[in-house]
Amino acid sequence: MSLFNVYPLFDITPVRAKDVYVFDEKGIKYLDLYGGHAVISIGHSHPEYITKISEQLNTIGFYSNSIQNPLQVELVEKLGQLSGCENYQLFLCNSGAEANENALKLASFHTNKKKVLSFKNSFHGRTSAAVAVTDNPKIVAPINAQQNVEFVALGDLEAVEKVLYNNDICAVIVEVIQGIGGLDESTSEFYQGLKKLCKKHNTLLIVDEVQSGFGRTGDFFAFQKHNIEPDIISMAKGMGNGFPIGGILIHPDIKASFGLLGTTFGGNHLACAASLSVLKVLESEQLMQNAKDVSEYFIKKAQSIPEVKAVKGRGLMLGLEFDFNISELRKKLIFEHHIFTGSAKNPNLLRILPPLTIQKHHIDVFFEALRQEL
Ligand SMILES: Cc1ncc(COP(=O)(O)O)c(C=O)c1O
Repeated sequence: MSLFNVYPLFDITPVRAKDVYVFDEKGIKYLDLYGGHAVISIGHSHPEYITKISEQLNTIGFYSNSIQNPLQVELVEKLGQLSGCENYQLFLCNSGAEANENALKLASFHTNKKKVLSFKNSFHGRTSAAVAVTDNPKIVAPINAQQNVEFVALGDLEAVEKVLYNNDICAVIVEVIQGIGGLDESTSEFYQGLKKLCKKHNTLLIVDEVQSGFGRTGDFFAFQKHNIEPDIISMAKGMGNGFPIGGILIHPDIKASFGLLGTTFGGNHLACAASLSVLKVLESEQLMQNAKDVSEYFIKKAQSIPEVKAVKGRGLMLGLEFDFNISELRKKLIFEHHIFTGSAKNPNLLRILPPLTIQKHHIDVFFEALRQEL
């Protein structure tokens, strides 16, 4: 048997990781400015995380969603308190795509409508509805293409209004800061206008915080900067620091009923333990404040480099735009300087998505390597 070969791989085999470092089988130490694609929030192998998951595994690792699970209740309370979304309801699942899939399905149930408005350059995952609302025809199979989706440019409120006016739209789904699309973000005026239009047309506003949530931008959620109240918020990546867990936060106006949504693994004991330890460390180590501080330091340094044409994103969801394709630069950073970074749909954008524990001296190491390569 062999693996289904869908991932182009770098020839590096990490065998161990600690905080912002990853070590390969030869003992080479890499600075992780990629966070396994924005997943590592509290740092690799955080002691609190290891203890909490190990203790949980030694107690009970899994049982189905047909029994009481006090860890889910603990997670709801802690998440509500730390995110500021206390009046929302939580549904737990296992990944970002699954979170968006459930968000879209719930919007359709709630409004009894079936079309969706999404944005150009968006990415929402690879399951049925999630991939249909993703702006990348290459990953949309014919079976997914039957979903009825309109794409408009991020920021174009007039286009949004036209689509909402004429159509049977159950949801607008938006990444407040686009991830893989290239870190574009519109204005507060746009996001607030979007919310108003959704309300007017009985359409739910789904904010995809799979990548930007859980403190990555320095706020708990990226939408909070724009002072809006989404109907559904989807989350995943940073939520479990690598343990597979996703979820949606659901506005209190949307009512639950038995069987409306469901999953076997979602909200299992181990996943809840992982996410609880993430929340505890985010709070005790003030990692959102750290994200803001280190981000400011990074942006200042980046702005002083003439080859950097634009610094994009915010918090620790950042990108440097050059006027050349960054793939060679990225390889040099990995193989010669032992620094992991990320790429984007925009071939000129180098993405920086480190663990939220990163310090200014790590940023200095990166800029010294960059200076040498430029
Ligand atoms: C904004 C956004 N939404 C959804 C997803 C899909 O998440 P997953 O890969 O966990 O299904 C991703 C993954 O990169 C993402 O960045």
